[in-house]
Amino acid sequence: MAVLEIIKVGHPTLEQKALPVENINSEIVELAKNMVETMHQAPGIGLAAPQVNRSLRLITVDLSVGEHPDQLIIMINPEIVDREGELLGEEGCLSVPGIYENVLRPARIQVRGYDLDGREIVLEAEDLLARVFCHEIDHLEGKLFIDRLSPLKRHLIRNRLKKELSKKKG
Ligand code: NI
Repeated sequence: MAVLEIIKVGHPTLEQKALPVENINSEIVELAKNMVETMHQAPGIGLAAPQVNRSLRLITVDLSVGEHPDQLIIMINPEIVDREGELLGEEGCLSVPGIYENVLRPARIQVRGYDLDGREIVLEAEDLLARVFCHEIDHLEGKLFIDRLSPLKRHLIRNRLKKELSKKKG
């Protein structure tokens, strides 16, 4: 297993709509495992393949950040099939370092996808877990959480990050 590089806001892959996984081959399994390790090491509670520069519909979620193996969810081609209510809560993103903002998300969702064995998974999620799924599935649509803020706020954040990230590059 390997820790992969997480790309940051401004990288074109983060703005692309990711392609469905057609075949769960060894490459996909390895990518998923590396994503889990990358997410845990970051540390983060969710990661989407575009964040490691792979434009594929694959996400990993683990609210326990590696503490409880039964909480790890690897989902291929995830889809929100039902949503209910609204909840405002703070979000951050490994691709948008240092920014935390309140985002409105469904309070409860039903999400459907496949595990690494190709078995269908249907999950009911609420509160933080629902939020993480919505956030990660947004990544597959080429959308960051800051794209859900007001245009002014988004503009200010993007400008600030552009300056900070270019400073780091030297
Ligand atoms: Ni994110």
